[in-house]
Amino acid sequence: MASSYSRHVASLEENYRQAIDGEFERVLIHGGSIGYHFADDRELVFQAYGHFTHWLPVGRPQQLLLIEPGRKPVYYQVVPDDYWYEQDFPLEDEWREAFAVRQLSSLEDMPKPGKGTAWLGPGAEIARGLGIEAAACNPEGLLARLDFARAVKTPYEIEQLRLANRLAMRGHEAAHACFLADGSEFDIHLAFLQACQQLDEELPYTPIIALDEKAATLHYQHKRRRLPRPARVLLIDAGCRVNGYCSDVTRTWTRPSSHGLFKQLVAGMDRLQCELVDEVRPGQNYVELHSSALRKLAVLLLELGICQGDAEQLVDMEIPQLFMPHGVGHLLGVQVHDVGGHQRDSSGAQTPPPEHSPALRTTRDLVEDMVFTIEPGCYFIPMLLEPERGSEIGKSIDWGAVDRLYDHGGVRIEDNIRVGAETAENLTRTSAA
Ligand code: GLY
Ligand code: MN
Ligand code: MN
Repeated sequence: MASSYSRHVASLEENYRQAIDGEFERVLIHGGSIGYHFADDRELVFQAYGHFTHWLPVGRPQQLLLIEPGRKPVYYQVVPDDYWYEQDFPLEDEWREAFAVRQLSSLEDMPKPGKGTAWLGPGAEIARGLGIEAAACNPEGLLARLDFARAVKTPYEIEQLRLANRLAMRGHEAAHACFLADGSEFDIHLAFLQACQQLDEELPYTPIIALDEKAATLHYQHKRRRLPRPARVLLIDAGCRVNGYCSDVTRTWTRPSSHGLFKQLVAGMDRLQCELVDEVRPGQNYVELHSSALRKLAVLLLELGICQGDAEQLVDMEIPQLFMPHGVGHLLGVQVHDVGGHQRDSSGAQTPPPEHSPALRTTRDLVEDMVFTIEPGCYFIPMLLEPERGSEIGKSIDWGAVDRLYDHGGVRIEDNIRVGAETAENLTRTSAA
């Protein structure tokens, strides 16, 4: 029986056949080259181009795939002769079955692919050297068709995403335990890596590990080695990669010493997030899900006394966005913020996010086997809230509550969701075992 990977490759072959659609005869996909720090021989962390990883999880520079309808895909495995770095690496049996493998010791040995070839990926100068004209490098129409299709996953991809979630949850458990044992941001970071058995450079993104007030910086990137006192809040946003596929999971933890109101907020956010997951249906629009998150956040802020008035009025005044300036989620796959989030269709026409939520990364209609995150949050960010302290809008906010919660930073809960035939599959919570 064909493996799920070979069925995935077969389905990509069909997608590409349709996407090429008479415009080109074949596509050459370049995974990318190594970059260097300026005026230095130190390498930047390499990450292969998404459309390359979609076919083959080889995170090495200068690899090429040739896709031509009606012919077996070809993988040009470039393995330079080198005694400074190890360049060779073993190939999985199923890659050998799916591709005709041609090993080259240099890109210079790459045969010219001929007229009618489109180039996908970085390295336009390499494409030129192979006789591919500029207009055939990353052509907009072809890319729009491929980007659009990538949102919907094959069973193989869904399995990788489940595994990436299971691994991340191991890391999250270890991180939580480290927090409860008074670990610093640095200690928690290492605990996550150790439990997942991944190096920083193998992760899909730099983990956000924020204690107390630092949780209010959405993409907080530092790792403090020491804290003046035991922390009361941990917001950790960290995921793993499995065969190129990313998980992207956020949890917020409290301790007995955390403020009671903040504990209620975390419990309320967890409920709110689960309710949003329950709303997922094929045919629904993602912007609706985001609007629902803003409405639910307004209700929660009223219930907890952080705001006063009427939920509808709060939404009209865009008060929830002062506490949740981010979008409720994004497409997820071989990139953590996957491509095509604003595409209306495969032509590349865009549906931008609504004016009231410019950070929303997807406006797509949901279809079965699409995978994305749902990650509502509530932050106490002085830069957003303070300008409203004396304003008309500010009259709906209980500033005493805000002042009490500033040093708790914020809360966000993030899971990875697959659209099922009728409802959602939560890849994060069901993969935790
Ligand atoms: N990890 C970044 C995000 O949640 O989108
Ligand atoms: Mn995240
Ligand atoms: Mn995310």
